[in-house]
Amino acid sequence: MSNDPVVAIVGVTGAVGAEFIATMDKRNFRVGKLKALASARSAGQTVNFRGEQVMIEELTPHSFHGVDIALFSAGGSISKKYAPIAVKSGAVVVDNSSAFRMDPDVPLVIPEINAGRIRDHKGIIANPNCSAITALVPLWPIHRQNRIKRMIISTYQAASGAGAAAMEELKESTRASLEGRPFTPKVIPLPYAFNVFSHNTAIDPDTGYNDEETKVIKETRKIFEDEKIAIGVTCVRVPVLRAHCEAITFECERPISEDEVRAILSKALGVRIVDDRAKNYFPMPIDASGQDDVLVGRIRKDLSDPSGHSIAMFVSADQLLKGAALNAVQIAELLPQRAMA
Ligand code: A2P
Repeated sequence: MSNDPVVAIVGVTGAVGAEFIATMDKRNFRVGKLKALASARSAGQTVNFRGEQVMIEELTPHSFHGVDIALFSAGGSISKKYAPIAVKSGAVVVDNSSAFRMDPDVPLVIPEINAGRIRDHKGIIANPNCSAITALVPLWPIHRQNRIKRMIISTYQAASGAGAAAMEELKESTRASLEGRPFTPKVIPLPYAFNVFSHNTAIDPDTGYNDEETKVIKETRKIFEDEKIAIGVTCVRVPVLRAHCEAITFECERPISEDEVRAILSKALGVRIVDDRAKNYFPMPIDASGQDDVLVGRIRKDLSDPSGHSIAMFVSADQLLKGAALNAVQIAELLPQRAMA
């Protein structure tokens, strides 16, 4: 009999759910037994894990008996309802939704930045927003050496962030557009093919900021433990299947050169520099897809700040991996429950 932990995946049929399985496999994450959970629609189907077909079960309040670690990615309302039930049953939850991220009792963790916070958990650990993770992995080592007092982020977000159905809708609407057929969107409420639009989360009519932007601001301050950091952000979706891009400009407390940034990032965990000016080759979603690292390039002085305190750069990361499943599995790898199992 194996002593390895029993792991439940909630939302196993989703875009992130599939990457939980692939990432655990790739990283040789020890699993005694996998519980594959989704809605009643998927119950009875199977998923392949390490060569075995695992039956998908309907998520119910009784699903967590004997579960040591539960990875959730089935949306905020499912997390709100079932994560506390999983914790009561004795599981530690790593939650990919936004449901608990700003709860002061819930650590919000990017292991390259604040792995130590995992120790503070009371049953739930939150995985940050994918746009926040993509920006913060490369910004953190810079911030540690020369505090970033202000940052401006513009995102170019892929369909994967809205789930498997949105990825399918991008493909379908592109096919329809090329064939001159009408297409009625079902998932994303705007035309997706050959289009760019403001992020499809709710927009605050007073501030003009959408939920995605607000998450980036609040989560950055929580993860950096720096309430004073000034952040401007614009979140936009582009017709890319997976891997987000972001244009980031940041201003440090002390002057900083592009060579210093390159030197810091060349040693940074989870970062790969892709910055070939001669070939005009920089981070692209096609290169970031399927990769663990955040790709960083176009590192250059921000010419709008002649004082020399500001740098501009362009990044790309796989939203389904570092932006979601990989970050969650990295957190799970650090759980004492796993070491004791
Ligand atoms: P299902 O495929 O059975 O609907 P994505 O983020 O790619 O949109 O995936 C969402 C995931 O959340 C899917 O695995 C989906 O399962 C799951 N899910 C959605 N609603 C429920 C529910 N009521 N109970 C359990 N899982 C759910």
